[in-house]
Amino acid sequence: MDLSSLIKNKKAKVAVIGLGYVGLPTAVEIAKAGFKVSGIDIKKQRVDSVNKGNSYILDVSSKELKEVTRDKRLVAFDNYQPLKKADIILICVPTPLDKNKVPDVSYIVSTAEKIAESLRKGQLVVLESSTYPGTTREIILPRLEKNKLKVGRDFFLAFSPERIDPGNKIKFKDVPRVVGGITRKCTQLATEFYKCFLSAGVAPLSSTEAAEMTKILENTFRLVNISMINELALFCGKMGIDIWEVIEAAKTKPYGFMPFYPSPKIGGHCIPLDPFYLSYKAKEYNFWTRFIELAGEINEQMPHYVITRIISVLNRNKKSLKGSRILVWGVAYKKDIADSRESAAFDIVPDLLKRGAEVDYFDPFIPKLELRNGRIGKPQVLKSIEYNPACLKNYDLVLILTDHSGFHCPSKAKSEKENTVLFDYDELAKKSKLVVDTRNAVKSRKYKNVSWF
Ligand SMILES: NC(=O)c1ccc[n+]([C@@H]2O[C@H](COP(=O)([O-])OP(=O)(O)OC[C@H]3O[C@@H](n4cnc5c(N)ncnc54)[C@H](O)[C@@H]3O)[C@@H](O)[C@H]2O)c1
Repeated sequence: MDLSSLIKNKKAKVAVIGLGYVGLPTAVEIAKAGFKVSGIDIKKQRVDSVNKGNSYILDVSSKELKEVTRDKRLVAFDNYQPLKKADIILICVPTPLDKNKVPDVSYIVSTAEKIAESLRKGQLVVLESSTYPGTTREIILPRLEKNKLKVGRDFFLAFSPERIDPGNKIKFKDVPRVVGGITRKCTQLATEFYKCFLSAGVAPLSSTEAAEMTKILENTFRLVNISMINELALFCGKMGIDIWEVIEAAKTKPYGFMPFYPSPKIGGHCIPLDPFYLSYKAKEYNFWTRFIELAGEINEQMPHYVITRIISVLNRNKKSLKGSRILVWGVAYKKDIADSRESAAFDIVPDLLKRGAEVDYFDPFIPKLELRNGRIGKPQVLKSIEYNPACLKNYDLVLILTDHSGFHCPSKAKSEKENTVLFDYDELAKKSKLVVDTRNAVKSRKYKNVSWF
């Protein structure tokens, strides 16, 4: 059977490399659609968890995972053996920036080299990791063609960006995809494959570069707009205008406006990083992506602004930061998720400690926080305190960095909805001495001890 028929009959064997926030939900969804899936990860602990049906990603429930692992529709491996037999290989590995904000494509390089070792005729390889335009053609293609196999004839190569939004309730299959192949046949096969499990549709594009650029456009759009609103938040703070009120008011316009909200810093593995993949690539063309650089600069300044706000709030109440007890509420980069990557907490908590504050934090999703003070030395590890509104009075100031809705206690719950503890931000405002709220978690403006930005 050729690949097209294997896809149509759901007989194609699929391998997903990288079982993280993107790879695990993807592997589960493809297995649910009826394909046999092998998940591959270098972290043995993750592989063992998957095979036991224990999910470590909030967006995939263990129940859902067990449904596909029980009958071996999804099996995880800590080696690359499944690549030989796979008909379709998806790459979902990280694409971070290094300490100098230069793209670190080493994960893509090493994965491409592993695929090349066993590449055979008829295989389709799709890169899903977010990256700069040109990566698929310049980094993956030459490594795969080293074995004298020709793309578009012997094997197929495409890029299709993942659009997962952790914590968003919209279902995986309801998010449309874009796909761009190296050749027309590559695009066609990748499109046929994604159509098998995405009801929202697949848009074929003219090239891998167009698909890579689409993903960067989406994330740059968010970076620039959130940074713009953050800049306005700084200015509104100076004028004593409530930015949150202004955004709500602007939202009443039925067209031409889309709300973005202030934050102590844009976090996560995508929005603050991917646009810098583009600005890196642009320099190769003697081009400077000034919006991205400016947005990045504002984003990096936000934690300093938060510190300034804390100092002035304490000062107004005749207190110094040094010696104050501060509770940081939420350290995930956004609400209701267990991901702290690029969170403002990594800038703000070490700064508060350095200035002599005593800091605790609470986050039901992040039990411990490893802080690096400088680039060398052992990280300092903080552990989340237990949730208890009575303890709020022990702190001079509560800093809301993440407005989690609440948390679920699976040990006590009989059903998914039971035993969900919803946070009462009015109670938090009433029981705390002072609050700096960076997320508009405390909605009512009647509290004199709460400072918003
Ligand atoms: N997290 C998101 O919300 C999101 C959304 C859309 C796109 N993306 C993009 O998807 C890609 C993956 O992101 P993620 O958040 O899933 O990262 P992640 O760190 O959660 O997961 C990546 C996984 O790949 C594994 N891995 C690394 N190198 C490997 C190798 N050589 N072989 C096998 N496994 C390997 C890691 O152990 C890890 O489990 C990134 O490019 C990211 O920008 C992420």
